[in-house]
Amino acid sequence: MSFDFSDLHVFVSGGSSGINLGIAEAFAGAGARLSLMSRSAGKVEAAAARLRGLGAEAAGYSADVRQPDAVQAALAAAHTRFGDIDVLVSGAAGNFLATALGMSPNGFKTVVDIDLLGSFNVLRLSHPFLRKPGACLISLSASQAFVPTPFQAHVCAAKSGVDMLTRVLALEWGPEGIRINSIVPGPVADTEGLSRLAPTPETLEAMARRVPLRRLGSRADIANLAMVLASPLGEWITGAVIPVDGGISLTGPRDFAAAAEAAAAGRSAA
Ligand code: HXC
Ligand code: NAP
Repeated sequence: MSFDFSDLHVFVSGGSSGINLGIAEAFAGAGARLSLMSRSAGKVEAAAARLRGLGAEAAGYSADVRQPDAVQAALAAAHTRFGDIDVLVSGAAGNFLATALGMSPNGFKTVVDIDLLGSFNVLRLSHPFLRKPGACLISLSASQAFVPTPFQAHVCAAKSGVDMLTRVLALEWGPEGIRINSIVPGPVADTEGLSRLAPTPETLEAMARRVPLRRLGSRADIANLAMVLASPLGEWITGAVIPVDGGISLTGPRDFAAAAEAAAAGRSAA
């Protein structure tokens, strides 16, 4: 199925790599104008250049989602350049493997600040710049939001908060014609997120074996749902939390003990 998004301005927070960049590429391929935001000016500019190489209009903005003033400035600049935001993807996130006792209060806070407070900042501050009616907002969640997972206390707490934020904003902003949904990716191949949870070939194979559909996801698997949600096919969907995960979230918590050991060995060697 092909989509025509040539009228749309798409803003992607955390859009300089991985799944979020995959979503940006999919929208760029369908003709949209893209604004990308992440911390590293070099990474985000390189990602925007990559989209321009695909023939899209694209610009990159450097901002940390934990800093509301910087986020506001990026949104305002994007709005000035490409107009009202039709699709906003909130996908900036951070993660590492550690038990609750193995992470300091600041370690816990860091992930909650990026994933949850950062999502609040981006979504809330985007409101004046959104197309009303019509805007489609998408939060990137994770199965940790509803599967209690050892070594992931920070992500579990943060992403369950992200999904509640999705539901509350669907209620508060629905009357203005703004929709918001969470996409819950399963393990997606060749991403930073997966490399942190499955840092060795053995842990990666074990993860793929665990997926009921017996393969890891691709960035396109996730982008496909983002495009459906942004298209007329999705116009009555809001407040939904939708797994795109080959069924893995049905299988319960994963055992990250071996992966954590491998990651810790890598950390102390570095
Ligand atoms: C224990 C750790 C740690 C580790 C960092 N900390 N790594 N604690 N084990 N492996 C602690 C630090 O010691 C410090 O606490 C605190 O966390 C903050 O660390 P900083 O390095 O100062 O934070 P910052 O520079 O803000 O970087 C944030 C980060 C980093 C999350 C730690 O890894 C990052 O920028 N990540 C972005 C990329 C990423 O993670 N992508 C994956 C997204 S996927 P103290 O007490 O020492 O000060 C995802 C997973 C979903 O979200 C599920 C996938 C299947
Ligand atoms: P990734 O490549 O590490 O992407 C994270 C992005 O967020 C990067 O562009 C990063 O760029 C940016 N970022 C991080 N901290 C930021 C901050 N404080 N402010 C602004 N930008 C920040 O991750 P990914 O693995 O593709 O994951 C993408 C999303 O999918 C995340 O929300 C993740 O939780 C979710 N997810 C991923 C998987 C998976 O298998 N990978 C599974 C489930 C859910 P900078 O470094 O330049 O800031």
